[in-house]
Amino acid sequence: MSFPQFPKGFYFGTATAAFQIEGGWNEDGKGLSTWDTFMHQPGRAAHLRAAEVAADTYHNFQTDIDSLAQLSCNAYRFSVAWSRLLPEGRGRLNPKGLDYYHRLVDALLKKSITPFITLFHWDMPQALEDACGGFINRAGAYYYADYVEVVVKALGDRVKHWITLNEPWEHAMFGHFLGEHAPGKRSPWAYFKVAHHELLGHGLAVERIRAICPAAKAGITLSQFPVYPMKNTPRNRQSAHFADLFVNRFYLDGLYRGQYPEDLWKRLWLFKPPVKPGDLQIISRQTDFLGVNYYSPMFAYHDWRIPFFQTWIERTTPPGAEYIEDELLGAGAYPSGIYELAMRYRDEYGNPPVYITENGTKCGEQLEKDARGILAGVHDPYRQRYLELYLAQLARAIQDGADIRGYFVWSLMDLCEWAMGYTYPMGLIYVDHASQARTIKDSGYWYRDMIRSQAAAGSGEVG
Ligand code: FCB
Repeated sequence: MSFPQFPKGFYFGTATAAFQIEGGWNEDGKGLSTWDTFMHQPGRAAHLRAAEVAADTYHNFQTDIDSLAQLSCNAYRFSVAWSRLLPEGRGRLNPKGLDYYHRLVDALLKKSITPFITLFHWDMPQALEDACGGFINRAGAYYYADYVEVVVKALGDRVKHWITLNEPWEHAMFGHFLGEHAPGKRSPWAYFKVAHHELLGHGLAVERIRAICPAAKAGITLSQFPVYPMKNTPRNRQSAHFADLFVNRFYLDGLYRGQYPEDLWKRLWLFKPPVKPGDLQIISRQTDFLGVNYYSPMFAYHDWRIPFFQTWIERTTPPGAEYIEDELLGAGAYPSGIYELAMRYRDEYGNPPVYITENGTKCGEQLEKDARGILAGVHDPYRQRYLELYLAQLARAIQDGADIRGYFVWSLMDLCEWAMGYTYPMGLIYVDHASQARTIKDSGYWYRDMIRSQAAAGSGEVG
């Protein structure tokens, strides 16, 4: 089997997020996050255990770090739970919470695995949500920057890679526009305020990180979607243009051009967030890398019922073979999208260093038991094929000049997929959630072999 080859120093890792793996939701002085509250609302009982226990890494992270080493990964992306450190979101520090992250970082470094820390992966402290509405309020951006300072002061002597925010679009959209995520708000006004204040918080955080650790590498992670018209009609093409501005370019242009896209801005009318003079300078402060989460494209169509934009988006691939690249993967995957995005950053955004901070898939899995009924293997050929093809496209993008420096599979292990609980496993490692026993899936072994096949195997700089 031949594997795609990547440059010397490339980071191969996996990614997780605190709420999705830690468990220990109310232990050792941790404050509640909006996600804890959200999952305890009536109607979510089926996923309560997933939210409270998750993959239980608060009690045992060593097994997973050993697995990362077994998979030959040289990097690991995880997030810090803001309310574990600052139970009220500001002010008082919880020493036991901080101790957990000290131990985690030390354990990674001991195995020569480079930590990439996400500072905010959607779990807003409930106390701040109650006090000011989180990022709906401009003050939320400043509280966030203060919290970042606490983390970087504590861990910055050992951690060099900082991701300020994970997917600001999703947090704003699903949490504040569609109400499917915590805190469950449904308001287009809230959406744009959150989007702007998240970016403001990002810019403030970059300043604080630089002030504390001048040698640190700071960036943000965006979810990114190539957007196509659902049908090739002028109206659908116009919708695809707006959808692209809304999901991708609002963030990219704010960060890299210091202005929100004019075509979109003109149309926002009542929904315009309150932007103060100087905000976009803060937001567009130079970063060291762009983190990109890519799973699938989006398909846009015209819908006259949607106010102002008359556009809606779906992730379902429309009929027609154009976006179906592989028989096994079918309509659920579009590996070329990663290449197309990389070319966009190369050609239109100054070719910044890029880390693919998430990519992966859910799929059918066959569990193989031995004669005693013990799990002996997990077969997931779909996931393996998915990784093969996405990584091949990534290698092609690098050959064509994109500055891509690392790749993180989502995710290391099966975990709590937000409001869907345990029902959406995407790990390279299977987790029996009753016993928390781990079993590496076939795709995990494939990933290991791919990493080991690198001519410059193990050459990622550590630290
Ligand atoms: C991304 C999130 C991550 C996980 C994957 C499947 O949008 O950042 O936490 O839920 O999707």
